[in-house]
Amino acid sequence: MGFISFADSLRLSRDEARKLARQYINPGLVTMMGLLNFDKQFTKAQGVSVWDKDGREFLDFLGGYGALNLGHNPPEVIEALQAVMERPNILQVTINPFAAALAANLAAVTPGDLERVFFCNSGTEAVEGALKLARAYSRKPTILYMDGAFHGKTLGSLSVSGREKYRKPFQPLLSGCEQIPFGDAAALEKRLQQGDVAAVIVEPIQGENGIKVPPDGYLATMRELCNKHEALMIADEVQTGFGRTGKLFGCEHENVVPDIMCLAKSLSGSMVPIGAVIARPTVWDKVYGGMENATLHTSTFGGNTLACAAGLAALETIINRRLPERTAELGNYFLEQTRKLAERHPVIKEVRGRGLLIGIEFKEREGLADRLTGGKLSELAREYYGAMVAGSLLNDEQVITVFTLNNPNVIRLEPPLIVTKEQIDQVLAALDRALGKTGSLTKAALTTAKSMFSGLLKRN
Ligand SMILES: Cc1ncc(COP(=O)(O)O)c(C=O)c1O
Repeated sequence: MGFISFADSLRLSRDEARKLARQYINPGLVTMMGLLNFDKQFTKAQGVSVWDKDGREFLDFLGGYGALNLGHNPPEVIEALQAVMERPNILQVTINPFAAALAANLAAVTPGDLERVFFCNSGTEAVEGALKLARAYSRKPTILYMDGAFHGKTLGSLSVSGREKYRKPFQPLLSGCEQIPFGDAAALEKRLQQGDVAAVIVEPIQGENGIKVPPDGYLATMRELCNKHEALMIADEVQTGFGRTGKLFGCEHENVVPDIMCLAKSLSGSMVPIGAVIARPTVWDKVYGGMENATLHTSTFGGNTLACAAGLAALETIINRRLPERTAELGNYFLEQTRKLAERHPVIKEVRGRGLLIGIEFKEREGLADRLTGGKLSELAREYYGAMVAGSLLNDEQVITVFTLNNPNVIRLEPPLIVTKEQIDQVLAALDRALGKTGSLTKAALTTAKSMFSGLLKRN
């Protein structure tokens, strides 16, 4: 295939796209998606639904890993984008009014005196911005992070993320980053007492670690301990932000005001990449205050017109439609009903979450792999049972979900916050069928598993 025009790209078949991606993007990823039959050709998306080229509707309960709080192609965001199409998108010699307005709105809706905003283009960049700010502010050497944490995959974010698989090939990572157990206030206090900690970074609910909710009071205690030991508290709200957990921000469940908050994903309503760090003025001013320090940390695309216009429209929509309150209500219902499913399906180990951030953890399934592979791949089966259930949900039930990155034995239920109760009921029924009446895998999931394992065996 020669040079591909935009018009040609609109007409690419699934196989052509696959072939190009195999050669020019990531062959392993193409193989992995093919094994699970995940890479369907989706040609239309609106709200909670996406449609394949044959017009079949799928419910998206992955929700862009938290980037689709307003669903696919939200009309309010599209309208805002269209309204600024003739404005300069990037023109760094001037103050962008949309960036200024969005920053003011973020200061108004985030807790306490969080006020100064730096705009970037992704979650991991927001985390990098937070880590740099904390280091420069405090001058102490240590940053504490939680086991199982996920903060992104650039070098700094990876240095404060928990999963060994993602860290190992890139070592040595940033020095001074130390892991502590998530949810353990006593361990945190003990480590803070050494007096060398610049900051503690935490997700109010750990998303990629399998939707783990900390014990009640943990975040509030962390706030007190950070005050006492003069360490900054960084809340990574990249996934928990903008209504996902039933409050606008996850740390509001414990009335906590962090010193620095990281934002991204749903901030711009999914159409344009965006990230942001918001900090207390006392912290920000010490590092970036004054003309000589004003350009210490910058980003070419950060605060561009399209991203900020989308952000203004998305935030306004989330607030006007009272999505956090609605999410709290629907989330309680969804969680309760999913827990009822667990009573009928012994394969479910635990259901947990808050708002519309729900994880289903499965029991380990060594027997399955032994049956399929003569015992060779029990470790893979342990890792990918969640993927098999997700494969069955997609291929038999037309429901999109995936496992969590740091804990593949957990599937996530993270639909757009505009989801209806009827759509939730549809997915509950689909889950019930997919898991089977006896709690064993359905025939289709076994087929998925078989093709996956035979594929893996061939390739290993
Ligand atoms: C809590 C958290 N922080 C940071 C990130 C990284 O965001 P991005 O993929 O936009 O870099 C993620 C992504 O899933 C996340 O869940």
